[in-house]
Amino acid sequence: MNVIEIKPDIFWVGAADWAVRDFHGYVTPQGTTYNNYLIMDKEVTLVDAVKSEFAEVGVANIKRIVDPAKIKNIIINHIENDHMGALGRIMELVPADTKIYTTMRGKEGMGRFFDIEGWNILTVKTDDEIKLGKYTLKFIETPMLHWPDSMVTYVKEAKLLISQDVFGQHLATTARFDDEFIECASITELDDATIDYYANILMPFGKLIKAKLTQIKNMGIDIDMIAPDHGIIWRKNPGRAVETYMNLSNGMADQRIVIIYDTMWHSTEQMTLPVMRGIRDCGVDCKVIKLRATPMSVAIKEFWKARGCLVGSPTLNNEVFPSVAEFMVHLKGLRPKDRFMGAFGSYGWMGGAVQWLYQNFRDMRLDAFEPGIQVQYRCKPEDDERCYEFGKDFATSLKEYHNRYQKSGALKVGLS
Ligand code: FEO
Repeated sequence: MNVIEIKPDIFWVGAADWAVRDFHGYVTPQGTTYNNYLIMDKEVTLVDAVKSEFAEVGVANIKRIVDPAKIKNIIINHIENDHMGALGRIMELVPADTKIYTTMRGKEGMGRFFDIEGWNILTVKTDDEIKLGKYTLKFIETPMLHWPDSMVTYVKEAKLLISQDVFGQHLATTARFDDEFIECASITELDDATIDYYANILMPFGKLIKAKLTQIKNMGIDIDMIAPDHGIIWRKNPGRAVETYMNLSNGMADQRIVIIYDTMWHSTEQMTLPVMRGIRDCGVDCKVIKLRATPMSVAIKEFWKARGCLVGSPTLNNEVFPSVAEFMVHLKGLRPKDRFMGAFGSYGWMGGAVQWLYQNFRDMRLDAFEPGIQVQYRCKPEDDERCYEFGKDFATSLKEYHNRYQKSGALKVGLS
């Protein structure tokens, strides 16, 4: 892909990965991009590097603008392979005294990835600045957003925030900017990709995100463009990206119930139908996800978009079904909050899965509707009726739960 000038003398020199479908376990049906930026100032400066497999693409893009031997500074905002894997290759091409700016944790991490003997690494912290010529870079540490080493770089005179993973999306597209993307796709698709990224990568860090966004606001930083290291650049609507993150970190969700289940002999699956009817008859939107038919990252995104979640599992050897256990392990790691849970499932001669699920909800400190519902072997008409009533009762409680959120002001705008 061509290099693109995103601000006067500031260029996107990244790489599009059209083919990646499994990003460390995260399903990426639309691929992704590894964005990095070249600032052509008195001191030529590269901000971030691409994934190691794309090193030659990144180098070729830099060479379209400048001989890498002219690079004076390299900023590394985050020590993960997709954003600095190509650094080793770049260091072969830049002058030996090129300065590398990163956080203290960034320097430690860099030493684990590369032989940094002889590299001129300078550590920075929040509020540190370097003057490149007409542009000044200000650094803001963002620990645990989403790694301990993370920081963002603000180009003061350009009002440009280079935000590494934050505000990104896994989208490989020829459109580089939000307004271009919306023209060829839609704002809904962009919002969905942003929420998907947040749910799967940043969900555990909502409190930190809120605090960091507030800190940046209080620092008086004026942003008119946000350039993340994945996906599109927020040129027209940077405020939308910030608002979306504020809302997500505030626990925003739709008044909806997602049924996430798996099944052995279709009995648990059979239960979803009357449960869903009960939910719908209560006027609550409902979405159904079968785990072995759906990528895990999609199940996680749909979980995060809905206020309520019913997890369905058959009992297998006195335990929860393995694919449901896998979902719960992912969920536990993402430390969700402010979601209303319930469980249902079928069993043969002894239950276990539903109890296992409720124990996990308690361990995760999630609010839950009890008791769950179980059916032995197959749903008979009276079981269908019980499932229908369970769906209605769960939906009624969910509505009250969701209203409490809106009243407490936790929910600023609707998700959809
Ligand atoms: Fe896109 Fe944390 O790497």
